[in-house]
Amino acid sequence: MFKGRSLTVVNDFSVDEQIYLYEKTKELKEAIRDKKNISKFKLSDPDFGIYLMFLEDSTRTKESFVNAAKFHNAKVNVFDVSTSSFNKKESITDTIRMLFGYSDNSLFIIRTKLEGVCRWLESAIGDYADRIGYSRPSFINAGDGKHEHPTQEFLDEFSFLEQKNWDRSSIHIALVGDLYHGRTIHSKADGLKVFNEIHVDLIAPDLLQLPEDYKDKMKHNGYDIRIFESIEEYLAQKNIAKIWYFTRLQLERMGDQILEKADYLISSVTFSRDFLDRLPEDARFYHPLPRNRTHPTIPQFLDSTKINAWDNQAINGYFTRIIEIAMLTDKLGADFKGTQPAINDLNDNFIQEAEINFKKKNGYKIGIKPVENGIVIDHIGRGHDLATIWNQIDKIRHIMKLNLISSHGVYNSHSEDLYKGMISLPEVLSFDKKQIKMLAAIAPGSTLNIIKDGRILNKYRLHMPPKVYNFDEISCKNENCVSHPAHQEMVWPEFHRADESRFICKYCEHIHEFQDIWDV
Ligand code: NCD
Repeated sequence: MFKGRSLTVVNDFSVDEQIYLYEKTKELKEAIRDKKNISKFKLSDPDFGIYLMFLEDSTRTKESFVNAAKFHNAKVNVFDVSTSSFNKKESITDTIRMLFGYSDNSLFIIRTKLEGVCRWLESAIGDYADRIGYSRPSFINAGDGKHEHPTQEFLDEFSFLEQKNWDRSSIHIALVGDLYHGRTIHSKADGLKVFNEIHVDLIAPDLLQLPEDYKDKMKHNGYDIRIFESIEEYLAQKNIAKIWYFTRLQLERMGDQILEKADYLISSVTFSRDFLDRLPEDARFYHPLPRNRTHPTIPQFLDSTKINAWDNQAINGYFTRIIEIAMLTDKLGADFKGTQPAINDLNDNFIQEAEINFKKKNGYKIGIKPVENGIVIDHIGRGHDLATIWNQIDKIRHIMKLNLISSHGVYNSHSEDLYKGMISLPEVLSFDKKQIKMLAAIAPGSTLNIIKDGRILNKYRLHMPPKVYNFDEISCKNENCVSHPAHQEMVWPEFHRADESRFICKYCEHIHEFQDIWDV
């Protein structure tokens, strides 16, 4: 069942669960159209607290959620941000911890500029709920900065499925407009996975193109992607999508430099009357809205044509959100049979005991004197260029505060034509688990040698730790992240291993090269 779970990103629901959501929405929509009994969709619990907290402007998302929450006859509260203690610098965690105490069961729907808020609250308030014996609340992300907008994604996919008559075998979609800032676009990197074969055309000038990390995610998810600078360029070729998804240019998130080019940017992604005859038969335009009334990328003359799919799309937000609330309150879900989201097992051992080569004489030296007892960190940055290796040595020394008698250097790695760094620490007899983890996250691939009486007693090869947290010296470098120190939300940074050299922020999902999580 779904109660107590949160919807912070699209992947919080498995593809099976998303399909369940779409099927239930279809049932509800038909039942309402046919004036059938819809009580099985209604929570009807006046004690269930549903809080809406919109710290960024919204019309559709907010109003459709208010209406969906009222549909359920729940205790609906629309939190007034403008007169709240946010203005007295109260943290969002403190605010929610208090509101959560007003009901035995609660669900929070939150929109903010800060990315990763709902993921943070899910764990912080969830832990608090466990401690005081309350049921864990659910959090729904109603859009967080440039990150994700999962409930918009679900209404978009539902609308595409309706249009395609529920055929999930393939989709060909053109994404047009501000692909850089648009969170509804970013959520598509996972949301389109309900289709088996996915062709995505990205239409935007360079400055507004989709960030590389999202392109990588799409490719990783098996999407076939093509890139075009403008609608004009797109229409000059033959393979044109029938589904077009437009997004607004998010001028409020752009710097002055980009704004100077606003006219050019707008014209590259604005549809015009003379393009019409190049559109395929049955083309449909979608838009999460709002549409800019001065520079609409979908011009108003299309409103009354069959190309207009965006009005129906917006209404679908009401139906999909009713079902999302029904699922997260366990009103629906008992008949769900598919698989749940995969849990990423992040508990593997990153410290690997390595074989000691006894034939080789211990050559570890401090200056000219060999290490008798102590620790030698070897293979630092092995295979990288000299500057990178020196940089890693500096980082290890600074972050681990190795200010003691010792030596270090960059050497040739045995017979090969590679370099590596080494630090000898004759005064340090052991590292504890936390220090080893720190070292592994600063210099993955290095080895740790424990030397006793001139011989190597133990040798460990260190890999990227699966989770890095509980260190004062790390922080997320995305300034919009809820855990970024500038926001003073007092969120503990936490990173998870993304691949063999990168960490992903647990909250905003910003990807960092391993060395960049450190503040030194
Ligand atoms: C979008 C949003 O806020 O992310 N709108 C919406 O939720 N319907 C897109 C936008 O603001 O342009």
